[in-house]
Amino acid sequence: MAEFISYIKKHHNSIYNKEFLMKMEKSNQSRFEVIKSMEGFVEENLPSLLKPIDQSWQPSDFLPDMKSENWKDDLSEIRKRAKEIPDDLLVVLVGDMVTEEALPSYQTWLNRLEGISDSTGASYSSWAKWSRGWTSEENRHGDLLNKYLYLTGRVDMKAVEVTVHHLINNGFDPQTGNDPYLGFIYTSFQERATKISHSNVGRLAKKSGETLLHKICGIIAGDEARHERAYKLFMSKVFETDPVHAVLSFAKMMKLRVTMPANMMSDGKDKNLFEKFSNVAQRIEVYTVRDYASIIKNLVDGWNIPSLKGLSDVGAKAQDYLCTLSERYISLSNRLSFAGEAESFSWIYDRKV
Ligand SMILES: [Fe+2]
Ligand SMILES: [Fe+2]
Repeated sequence: MAEFISYIKKHHNSIYNKEFLMKMEKSNQSRFEVIKSMEGFVEENLPSLLKPIDQSWQPSDFLPDMKSENWKDDLSEIRKRAKEIPDDLLVVLVGDMVTEEALPSYQTWLNRLEGISDSTGASYSSWAKWSRGWTSEENRHGDLLNKYLYLTGRVDMKAVEVTVHHLINNGFDPQTGNDPYLGFIYTSFQERATKISHSNVGRLAKKSGETLLHKICGIIAGDEARHERAYKLFMSKVFETDPVHAVLSFAKMMKLRVTMPANMMSDGKDKNLFEKFSNVAQRIEVYTVRDYASIIKNLVDGWNIPSLKGLSDVGAKAQDYLCTLSERYISLSNRLSFAGEAESFSWIYDRKV
């Protein structure tokens, strides 16, 4: 993945046309108005996008009950099965957990988007309800993965915790500014990416015989799928209301490139931690350049980009760019190789994968 990123940077000028990017600007004020006009639509859809709390799973549903008489047996069973998880999969699982644990940065970012912000911290606006509902559901992901990893005894928890500490301290900048259109395109993409990543970790866990981890990843991926549906739906409404600027924003976000939310992670020692983690994820096929291409295609099809009509010149240009982008990434991925030297990770006591 790191090689992929540097390739993209090197070929920046051939792929990205700055003039084209500049033409895509539009004042945030009218975007704010479009977003505010969607309050009723969001309110109507909230019941199908967020689960009632009394029907929601909680991390303890998947972990040993430490009050039960059998807690030692249950714990031994987890530790026995977790021994089967290969180191490379463990590294990717830790990276995914660290990503989830930086939720404070994501909520801060979401509340900064124009029109979405929760003005009091407990506002009744439908956007604020969404933002708090989404955050509270997501909060269980890092919680469950963190507790699971702790119980397995397979990882250096201190090194992992230091990484989470650094990541939240370093921040999160997906290059969207406060623009809600870019924000929803980013989240539509990213929820699908995390769904793919968690599902693949679960699949590989099952293959190695760790059925509990398979179940855990499945339940988390289910949430990501529902959140993906939500952000795609919000953005569909934007496409209906303001198609030209929606398509320009989509092209702009794709030109800026969707960076993973944890790309500022650090364990305080390793300068290339994120690149190394991404390379392992690519190598064991948990999240690959092909997945990146498939997400673009999914969004292009889902928002009916090829059939948008009546776009301005620049809008039509963005439409053409988007319709061929996925294939371009696929052909790039065919030219890149991710095989490399094994690298050590503090998370697994400096063992190499
Ligand atoms: Fe999540
Ligand atoms: Fe998510």
